[in-house]
Amino acid sequence: MDDTDIYAAIGEEGFTRLIAAFYKQVPADDILGPMYPPDDLAGAETRLRDFLVGRFGGPMRYVEQRGHPRLRMRHAPFPVTPLARDRWMAMMNRALEEAALPAEATAVLREFFAQVATMMINQHA
Ligand code: HEM
Repeated sequence: MDDTDIYAAIGEEGFTRLIAAFYKQVPADDILGPMYPPDDLAGAETRLRDFLVGRFGGPMRYVEQRGHPRLRMRHAPFPVTPLARDRWMAMMNRALEEAALPAEATAVLREFFAQVATMMINQHA
């Protein structure tokens, strides 16, 4: 399955379910919880969801509203250590299990998340 087929396979609904399953774990997490805006978790949820929708073949809402993703730059304010990266991936892998998307879509997304999450590491302490 190519990246751009994912949206056709899981739709708006698939991405919404996946990202909701991710964000509901955020507030209670000791590493990630403090990084996210407590008063705008819904906004954060929309931003990640819309980014993924556009990246995987759906409407380009993220780019229309936020411009070029420049993800490393946008993560620069947050302390993304290897530990934070592993925690983010653990939470996303749980979300992927909970969302129970088609196996092929899950495999493509899991690989994509793992690669981008490693690229986001910006400190090693
Ligand atoms: C490696 C661990 C990661 C950490 C600790 C992290 C943390 C954060 C935080 C704290 C925000 C701000 C929330 C907001 O208000 O939008 C954010 C935004 C965002 N993150 Fe991550 N993130 C990580 C990995 C990723 C990955 C792997 C992706 C993509 C697959 C991603 C995509 C995004 C996007 C699209 C935004 C919104 C950027 C914007 O438009 O402002 N992040 N991230």
